[in-house]
Amino acid sequence: MTQDLTGIQDTLDTRDFQTDPRRIQVRGLGKTFILHNQGGTRLPVLRAIDFDASAGECLVLAGSSGAGKSTLLRCLYGNYLATEGSIRIRDDKGWVGLTRAPEQRILQLRREVIGYVSQFLHVIPRVSTLDVVAEPLQQRGAGAGEARERAAVLLARLQVPGRLWNLPPATFSGGEQQRVNIARGLIGGHPVLLLDEPTASLDADNRAVVVGLIREALAEGRCLVGIFHDEAVREAVATRLLPLHPPAADAACAARLAAVAG
Ligand SMILES: Nc1ncnc2c1ncn2[C@@H]1O[C@H](COP(=O)(O)OP(=O)(O)O)[C@@H](O)[C@H]1O
Ligand SMILES: [Mg+2]
Repeated sequence: MTQDLTGIQDTLDTRDFQTDPRRIQVRGLGKTFILHNQGGTRLPVLRAIDFDASAGECLVLAGSSGAGKSTLLRCLYGNYLATEGSIRIRDDKGWVGLTRAPEQRILQLRREVIGYVSQFLHVIPRVSTLDVVAEPLQQRGAGAGEARERAAVLLARLQVPGRLWNLPPATFSGGEQQRVNIARGLIGGHPVLLLDEPTASLDADNRAVVVGLIREALAEGRCLVGIFHDEAVREAVATRLLPLHPPAADAACAARLAAVAG
């Protein structure tokens, strides 16, 4: 029996599905953390976020530290469950509502549609760098040899020294781990790619390599959502900015405006 996906995959409007360039649709998204070890304190982080992102776009999340940029990326990856609104991601079959989709469907999306370069590499013990990088491509059906060849090409471009490729990246420097993480995020060719400060611990030379790789991903028609600390990197890759403000700051601002208005 096939699984009933009614209510999970839904066409949103009358646009022709095949020609619709959108990959992500976010409506009224809110995220409030409940701090259970702080007496259930509610921490509103995201409120009323709306945006679409399409193939060939690099949407850059902008805002001060603590504005909720990483939280939004984690919601898009299905890591954090949104507390309000909807997130829909498109695959080749239809739109998938992340807040309602079963766990299996989310895992399938991560394998086939959404790539994620987290801020720090989650090191897998005893697995060599080459295999850490090759894994997402193998999960998408490539053979081990082909995946390792592609991993080697990416590691070389990112200037990770060949003598490190057979070692697990646990003991690598911050910048080396970050480059391994970027290679792992890019290799799968996922149509949607989420990037959380991928250049934060890189020198100028390696930042330029990453900018080149991001631009290639855009030219291939992938849809990128990223956080870039470095202004020059942001300007080199962004096609659009999404400003984020913490709700608490909004409330303080509203209070000040109300006071001024008397
Ligand atoms: N898992 C969590 N539990 C509780 N609070 C969190 C959690 N993740 C993030 N936060 C809080 O959400 C706010 C936004 O964090 P984050 O999204 O990391 O900001 P940014 O990436 O813009 O610097 C911060 O105040 C942070 O402490
Ligand atoms: Mg962050």
